[in-house]
Amino acid sequence: MTLFRLDASIRVDGSHSREIADLVEAEWVAARPEDHVVRRHVGTEPVPATAWAAAVGASFVSEGERSADQRSALASAATEVDALVVADALLFAVPLYNFGVSQHFKSWVDLVITDPRMAAGVTPAIAGKPAVLVTVRGGSYAAGTPREGWDHATGWMRRILADVWQLDLTVVETEFTLVGVNPALDQFTDLAAGLRRTSEQDARDHGRALAARRELAA
Ligand SMILES: Cc1cc2nc3c(=O)[nH]c(=O)nc-3n(C[C@H](O)[C@H](O)[C@H](O)COP(=O)(O)O)c2cc1C
Repeated sequence: MTLFRLDASIRVDGSHSREIADLVEAEWVAARPEDHVVRRHVGTEPVPATAWAAAVGASFVSEGERSADQRSALASAATEVDALVVADALLFAVPLYNFGVSQHFKSWVDLVITDPRMAAGVTPAIAGKPAVLVTVRGGSYAAGTPREGWDHATGWMRRILADVWQLDLTVVETEFTLVGVNPALDQFTDLAAGLRRTSEQDARDHGRALAARRELAA
């Protein structure tokens, strides 16, 4: 059995999304240590910025007319989708950047959707698989806060993962990861600590649920 894990943080050391996703993964590994975890670090090894356009362009020409770049982009898309199709469960760790979705995650999603197994109008090849999305934000976008409605990433990620790809999705959200980094947020230290405890517990719970779903399917 295989867990596919994607990380979109542009950093490795000190990454909150990685730390929280580690808790999900640890529950999976604890349930059956011999299982595989396949990793895709799109934040540090991104999909080339030109790949998506090349893959889309390939769909407008016959196979024999495709350029080397177009063939390479289609092969990359197929490789990305192969990794999803063979996985029994999926884990995504994606931060909020500039009030929107990580460009590396978006590029990866766009490329995946060019593959015929994940294209619009077909049932996605990964429909029904259990998945956890871990997302982190430096500030807070909670109801009643000055920036309520400014998080344009989480809603989009839910749309893609749960609605378009039809994954059986649970989401772990953590806010205020910049508390302790940005002095303007010092007043939120206790609140941030509480939010972090809750999301760590959520991560463990969802990790256990992911492993349980996997055992049912085995
Ligand atoms: C370039 C950049 C842009 C960011 N933009 C936002 C933002 O718009 N809103 C926000 O709440 N946090 C923002 N952050 C903070 C990150 O969401 C936060 O540091 C998060 O913990 C990063 O994920 P990581 O800890 O896994 O690396 C930004 C961070 C960086 C580096």
